Amino acid sequence: MIILKTPAEIEIMARASRLVAETLAMLRREVRAGVATEDLDRLAEQFIRSHGGTPAFKGYRNYPKTLCASINDQVVHGIPSKRTLKEGDIIGLDLGAIVDGFYGDSAVTVAVGNVNPRIAELVKVTEESLYAGIAQAVVGNRLSDISHAVQRHAEAAGFSVVTDFVGHGIGRQLHEEPQVPNYGKPGQGPRLQEGMVLAIEPMINMGSSGVRVLDDRWTAVTADGSLSAHFEHTIAIQSSGPPRILTQVPELIAAC
Ligand code: MF3
Ligand code: CO
Repeated sequence: MIILKTPAEIEIMARASRLVAETLAMLRREVRAGVATEDLDRLAEQFIRSHGGTPAFKGYRNYPKTLCASINDQVVHGIPSKRTLKEGDIIGLDLGAIVDGFYGDSAVTVAVGNVNPRIAELVKVTEESLYAGIAQAVVGNRLSDISHAVQRHAEAAGFSVVTDFVGHGIGRQLHEEPQVPNYGKPGQGPRLQEGMVLAIEPMINMGSSGVRVLDDRWTAVTADGSLSAHFEHTIAIQSSGPPRILTQVPELIAAC
């Protein structure tokens, strides 16, 4: 069952989402060669708690940290550690927070210093594919119109879509119905309605789409060792027009 949110609930989700956006904006500024991912995790946890939120991932199915930090061929769910970033790496930063019982969830992929042009292209196309999906999140469309738009944009650039992980509904729980795949035929699945809140999160590989999970039981890596990028926003479908992107804060975009 897809749980529709009231306007008042969406305002609470907007606060949780804003905290996630602000934390990610702070983390982006800390990304540089030599930084350990566990340092980013500690900063993220302190920031969320000092602003009245609770880390959403820590303790979720025994996940040990606040942040998911996924470097290069790591697709998602990289566990922060003493590993340090190197010039030319890309790092996915995925973060969730709970405020007043509601979740926000967002991810970005950031380059460490200069990266080679094809890698920069992967990051750019992955972000664009998120926005292509978001553009379809309008009343009257069906769920798979989002999925199809993501896939089409990523594949047009010669990249491949990860199918083993999907986006999701979000609200009083991190993962609610429906699942939001990043691939599929258009015009399928439930009709989109005002009050649906979705976390749309394309994971796009430079090589083939296969992934495997490491022995730590969390870190997903590409099967072929190629690089992977990930972007995510929490969005609320509105009565008309494009969705409200809850994890996008206008002042923060201007500040980047
Ligand atoms: N954005 C990811 C998701 O929605 C991150 C979850 S990490 C976990 O699945 F630790 F919470 F599982
Ligand atoms: Co998510």
